[in-house]
Amino acid sequence: VKVGILLSGRGSNMQALVRAAQGSDCPYEVVLVASDKPDAPGLAWAAEQGIATFSLSPKGIGKPAFEAEMTAMLRHAEVEVVALAGYMRLLSDRFVGDWRGRIVNIHPSLLPKYKGLDTHARAIAAGDAVAGCSVHVVTEELDAGAVLGQAEVPIHPGDDADSLAARVLIEEHRLYPRILSEFVRS
Ligand code: GRF
Repeated sequence: VKVGILLSGRGSNMQALVRAAQGSDCPYEVVLVASDKPDAPGLAWAAEQGIATFSLSPKGIGKPAFEAEMTAMLRHAEVEVVALAGYMRLLSDRFVGDWRGRIVNIHPSLLPKYKGLDTHARAIAAGDAVAGCSVHVVTEELDAGAVLGQAEVPIHPGDDADSLAARVLIEEHRLYPRILSEFVRS
């Protein structure tokens, strides 16, 4: 199954997905990495791996044209499933409709808890004993689609948002390739 990855920054989850795809029994291949940020570090890494990359800023052209171009590039690459990996822009209802049920995302909380930003600081402030990450289907409503899989980590006394984020990120890198593989097989 051909997968296209959208990212906006570092791209460590994209790297985990690409590395897993290099395994012989992986049911997906990463055929395109695209970004709304031309200088996203993840984009450069993907290009170095020989993966087709594409970047386009919505600045100046507006969101509908930007997303139409994204869809055109994804279709040109014959992408069947779109995986968001630190893609920091809200997708329009139109884009979600065009890819209905075929967009997945990784979110750094145990959904339905802590949708949106600053998940780790919010989990610590709430006094939670566990945090984690979720892979879910993307729908029109932010971080609200069906959860496909989750991983938990403990929150330790003395944790701050950064130390917790680092612990969760390790699990993100394990969870996302596993759940994406299950998803494309189903
Ligand atoms: C990850 O924590 C992911 O869960 C969230 O944004 C972060 C992206 O990190 N959606 P990276 O770009 O994959 O390194």
